[in-house]
Amino acid sequence: MAVTLEDIDLYNPDVYVDAPPFEALAYLRRECPVFRQEMPDGTFYWAVLKHHDVVEVARNPLVFSAEVGGVVLEDQPPEQLEQTKNMLLMMDPPRHSTLRKNVYPHFRPRQIQQLEVRIREICRDLVAKGIEMGDVEFVHDLAALVPSEVFGEMMGIPPEDRPKINRWAEIMTGGQDPEVNPDGYTATSGNDGSMAMAVYGIEFAAARRGRDGEDLGDLLLATKVDGQPMTDLEFGYFFVQLVTAGNDTTRTMISSGLHALLEHPEQLTRLRADRSLIPNAVEEILRYANPLHYFRRTTTADATVGGQEIKAGEKLAMIYTSANRDEDVFAAPDEFDVGRVPNPQLSFGIGEHYCLGVHLARLEGRIWLEELLDSGVTIEMTGEPRRQRSNLNNALKSLPVRLTPA
Ligand code: HEM
Repeated sequence: MAVTLEDIDLYNPDVYVDAPPFEALAYLRRECPVFRQEMPDGTFYWAVLKHHDVVEVARNPLVFSAEVGGVVLEDQPPEQLEQTKNMLLMMDPPRHSTLRKNVYPHFRPRQIQQLEVRIREICRDLVAKGIEMGDVEFVHDLAALVPSEVFGEMMGIPPEDRPKINRWAEIMTGGQDPEVNPDGYTATSGNDGSMAMAVYGIEFAAARRGRDGEDLGDLLLATKVDGQPMTDLEFGYFFVQLVTAGNDTTRTMISSGLHALLEHPEQLTRLRADRSLIPNAVEEILRYANPLHYFRRTTTADATVGGQEIKAGEKLAMIYTSANRDEDVFAAPDEFDVGRVPNPQLSFGIGEHYCLGVHLARLEGRIWLEELLDSGVTIEMTGEPRRQRSNLNNALKSLPVRLTPA
C-alpha cells in the first residue's frame, strides 16, 4: 500500500517494534523533508529528515538549543529539566564549551588508544565465555558486557557494582518499553535509574577525592572547570552522562552489528576474508543500524530549516535514522555494504555535541569484531530477534544465537 502523509506517525513507539519506518522516512525525504509530527500530549515537533538539514541544526547550538527543552521529545517537568541541564549533552554554549574543553583531553584518540590491550582481553574473554555457553541471548549475555566492563575498568568501578549500573542505565534508556522499564519514563516510584546512578556517582566522587590515581575516575575528579575541580554533584551528573551515553549505545552497536552480519552472510564472508575492512564495517554498522533514532533541539529564535519556517520555542528532532539513508548522500542507502566509502554517517551526531566517546566506541566495535572473527566461531540465530519498543533507541532487546567453536 502506498504511503500517504496522513498515515505517517513517526512518534508512536509501536511503529518501531518490527523495524524502523524506513519507507515512510524515504517518502518524507522526497515529499516533506521537515515534517510536522503531532504528539499524544497535544504538542508537536518538526522531524528533520535530510542529512544536510540535520547537520545544519546540529551546527547551530545557539539557535537550536539542547538546554532549553532537553534532548528527548517528551517535555520534562521543570524540576527534572533543571537537573538534566547539568549534563554535558543538555548544555548550551558557553557552559557547554567550557566543560567540554576541559574533559575532552581524556577522550582523545591517543588516550583511548592506550586501552586497546585491555579491551582486547575483555573481548577475548567474552567470546570464550560465549563459546563455552553455546546458546546465548547475545544482547545481555555478551554485548552488554563489553561497554560495562570497559567503562568499569576505565573508571575504576568495582566489578560487583557493574551489573547494577547497567540495570539503571537500561531502565533510563528503555523508558518506552514496558518490559524494560515497567514504571514508565517519568516514574514516581523512584525507579527511573537516573537518581540511583547520580547518587552512586556522587558517593563514588566523595570516596575517591584526593586519591591522586591514574584511572579516568581520578583524572576527571582532578579536572578543573573554570579553575575549580568539579564538585561531587557535578561529577555525579557527568558520571550519569557517561554511563547513559556510552553503555546502551555501544551494546546496541555490537548486537545490531552481529544481527546485520548474520542477515547478510555474504558481507560476513567478505569480512572474514579481508580483515582490513573491519573499521569500514564498524562505520557501516553504525550507519545502517544507528543506535539512536534522534536527538531533540528547541529553537531559541525564529528559524528556517530545509525551507520550513520554525517559530521560536518549537521543538525539532534530528532523525539520524533518516539522514543515514539519505539518497542524496549515500549510494544504495538501504544496502548493507561493509566496504562502503565514503560513509559520512551521523550516528554520533555532529557539531557542538559530537559524541565525546566516539573514539572509544569505534575502538570497542573494531576489537570486538577482530576477536570474534579471530576465534573462528560459527554463529547462527536460534530464534527471532526482538526489538525495543522505542522511538529513541534503535535497539534489539534480545538476539538468541548459538556459538559453535571452530
Ligand atoms: C556506538 C556508540 C555511541 C553512539 C551511537 C553515540 C551517540 C551519540 C550522539 C548521537 C551524541 C550527540 C548528541 C547530540 O548531538 O545531541 C553523543 C554525545 C555524547 N556521547 Fe556518545 N555515543 C556512543 C558512545 C559513547 C561512549 C562510549 C561514551 C562515553 C564513554 C559517550 C559519551 C557521550 C557524551 C558525553 C556525549 C555528549 C557530548 C556533548 O554534549 O558535548 N558516547 N553520543
